[in-house]
Amino acid sequence: MWLTINDKQIEANEGMSILNAALGAGIYIPHLCGHPDLEAVGGCRLCSVEIDGMEEAVPSCMIKVQEGMKVTVHGPKAERTRKTAMELILATHPADCTGCPKYGKCELQSMYQYLGVGPERWKKKSRTVPTDDSNPLIRHLFTRCVRCGRCVRACRELRGVKVLDFQRTQEGVRIGTGGNISLKEAGCKFCGACIEVCPTGSIMDALGQINEEASYGERVVPCKAACPAHTDIPRYLRYIKEGEYEKATAVIREKLPFPEALGCICNHVCETACKRNELGEPLSICKLKRAAASVHSDDWKKNRKIADSTGKKVAVIGAGPAGLTAAYYLAKKGHEVTVFEINEKAGGQCRYGIPSYRLPDEVMDREIDDILEVGVQLKVNTTAEAPEVLLKQGYDTVLIATGTHKGTLLPLEGNKLSGVILNTDFLKNARRNQIRNLGKKVMVLGGGNVAYDCARTALRLGAEEVHIACLESRDKMTAAAEEIQEGCDEGVILHSGHSFLRITGDTKVQGVELQKVEKFYFDENRKAVIELVEGSREIIPVDHVIFAVGQAPDETEKLGVELNHGFYVKVNSSFATNLPGVYGAGDVVTGTRSVIEAIAAGRQSAVEMDRYLGGDGDISEELLEKETADPFLGRTKDFGNLERLSPPLLDPQERKNSFDAVEQTFTCEEAKCEARRCLQCDLRLNVTNPKLWNEY
Ligand code: FES
Repeated sequence: MWLTINDKQIEANEGMSILNAALGAGIYIPHLCGHPDLEAVGGCRLCSVEIDGMEEAVPSCMIKVQEGMKVTVHGPKAERTRKTAMELILATHPADCTGCPKYGKCELQSMYQYLGVGPERWKKKSRTVPTDDSNPLIRHLFTRCVRCGRCVRACRELRGVKVLDFQRTQEGVRIGTGGNISLKEAGCKFCGACIEVCPTGSIMDALGQINEEASYGERVVPCKAACPAHTDIPRYLRYIKEGEYEKATAVIREKLPFPEALGCICNHVCETACKRNELGEPLSICKLKRAAASVHSDDWKKNRKIADSTGKKVAVIGAGPAGLTAAYYLAKKGHEVTVFEINEKAGGQCRYGIPSYRLPDEVMDREIDDILEVGVQLKVNTTAEAPEVLLKQGYDTVLIATGTHKGTLLPLEGNKLSGVILNTDFLKNARRNQIRNLGKKVMVLGGGNVAYDCARTALRLGAEEVHIACLESRDKMTAAAEEIQEGCDEGVILHSGHSFLRITGDTKVQGVELQKVEKFYFDENRKAVIELVEGSREIIPVDHVIFAVGQAPDETEKLGVELNHGFYVKVNSSFATNLPGVYGAGDVVTGTRSVIEAIAAGRQSAVEMDRYLGGDGDISEELLEKETADPFLGRTKDFGNLERLSPPLLDPQERKNSFDAVEQTFTCEEAKCEARRCLQCDLRLNVTNPKLWNEY
């Protein structure tokens, strides 16, 4: 239908309000209580207009369009109503906007500037309602509230959570919970819709506004931002909540080719960033990923795209997570990719550095098969030529992704005795079933996850007494808390806060002398300072000592590229080495980091290498059509206190006698339950942002 607004003919759909019809046609009408995603209530009167045939100005958000209607936005009656309404709002609003974080983005500020109205005509009544900082995640600054009710309607209508309402208090009407109980007690889901629709800076994030460099989306959805591969965590958790594992897997696979492996061993920095930490414990994101991936659905392959051959050849040296990830994305871009692997199987540290009770072989096999399926050629038991030679042999570009496979031996008395083993050799040989005659008593030196991998592997290989000694106190150890606990449950004896003085024995290890640490810290030059407790020396009798104090790249000097700190491949911000066409990624560049960081580096290096080969560097993919998430959340009993679920573990006595997976996978019901705890922080990004007048 057609109507006229300000003498301009516009077309509108039946049932539309005049306000929405005007805004849709690019004609600005001020509006404050009205919001595109909420039902109109006609409260603020700022949207007043005059309509031919009507005596008084009326709120345009409440009147539906009619054929032939003639509307005037700036008639004298409408202007008078609007200005009075604005003056009344400003009379109780803080006069100085400059300290408000919403400055420049505030709808109220934009509107009074448009109207040229100030608070002068009305006596200013300063409101003294104190700011409510008592709730996690959400901060309420009542002095800035204009009582438009958008937050109340968003909570009721949009989300169906029904926590916020107008409350009558001694200081006047304010927004809050009934009975003035906390948001958590009232059943708030902390979705942030109230923050999103607030036209002023009255309801704000209590967290997430700190990192000014991060984009708004990154601040609002910190788990996704924290994941080095930026997997869309809230999106796949929503599918898990609905039991749609296939769709969840497709979402994860849009960013990485190892969903199940990561579900087993990821260091899950996303969980540290999860906003639910503020309410108690974070979502069990890592284990939910494993649950989704464990159905082994191939549905995601339907939308997988493999470009036509480009005729370009790529060599990847090293079939670890970084090399395989880069190979996968480069092959999908149509390049002919060959991966050279020195060992008999692909997987790198995931295969040879992580014990199978944490990451079973079959998981790696399955996910590597999917990588080979897109055309990646894998040459195992093969030492690659130096990159320069590979280039001469016809490869157009080379990626060095050889990882860190050489354990570090500390300069300790007795370190050459028979019975001393390096972490990397020990774990690799254990994977290959090549460890015979491990002594009854083993000491592992080091306090990280690898030390626990060694200690728990030693137990499984028949050692009767396994010790770990490290300089750090237990709470400062770099090993994950669950690793320490699981090791302890299996009987690993921990000597945290101990320095190792020497390994005793003539030709063969007989013991390790330890001394208690009084203080351990790094000085301003990053030099370790260790103060020991007098008279606390003791010798622990052992047959084997395993060094688990770090690892470095092996034989990188043979690669013919510039190195950093003697071992590490030096690259620029585009992953390029000093040799044209030769790139580096993963631990061989950065030193030992997490698997997900290696995967992220594999992705980024693939982007750069594709560009080098003349491609557009676009490796993004949509394996699942984007669906608009249902904005309605509804109420959930005691939502704020729902406890984190963890998958069950095998009994310690049972598990320490085998390499069977220690941690079980969530059942479908458990996974659904755990995923229901998600705050769905990303939903608020779907809330429409009303345009300010200067954007029309
Ligand atoms: Fe129409 Fe407030 S927007 S009355």
